Amino acid sequence: MSVREITTIGDPVLATPAREIDPDELAAPETQRLIDDLVETKRAFDGAGLAANQVGVPVRIAVVEVEPGNPRYPYKPPFPLTVLVNPTLEPLGDNVAEINEGCLSVPDLRGDVPRHLAVRARYLDRDGVEREQDVRGLSAGTFQHEVDHLDGILFVERVADRKSLSTWEQFERHRRDEFLRRAEQINRWAQS
Ligand code: NI
Repeated sequence: MSVREITTIGDPVLATPAREIDPDELAAPETQRLIDDLVETKRAFDGAGLAANQVGVPVRIAVVEVEPGNPRYPYKPPFPLTVLVNPTLEPLGDNVAEINEGCLSVPDLRGDVPRHLAVRARYLDRDGVEREQDVRGLSAGTFQHEVDHLDGILFVERVADRKSLSTWEQFERHRRDEFLRRAEQINRWAQS
């Protein structure tokens, strides 16, 4: 396993929809190594998720995981390691909230993105087994952020109120308290 280099906004690989992967290619050692590296790279940079095109490989694979006490996103509830292959998302209900996001491919920028608060995810796991999973709250936002990556979309393109854009330092200084209250409400709703 190794930590790979994460590419940044402006690289065409982040702006291009990634291609689906078939079962044989998924089972190949090279793809399984890519998945291991995505996990290791996500953990090395304290991300909540990472998509394959963020390390320059244009296939529809992403990993999501929030470890308890994640320093980048301390308000996100823990989420177990989940490997998404060829994922699709279906919104459940009409609940949408503005979630303040950042991205390892958009250094030192955060902003509010409207996200569905509940989604049904359909995907293959790393063994090629079909999975269906309903995800709520901030975790649902993370899933949408990762599937957006695979569709060639970065969170900055979805920011509705551009005045919400900030550096991480200014977020801490001016926006954190307000957002933590919102995140708290979302977490309560997600558990209800
Ligand atoms: Ni991202």
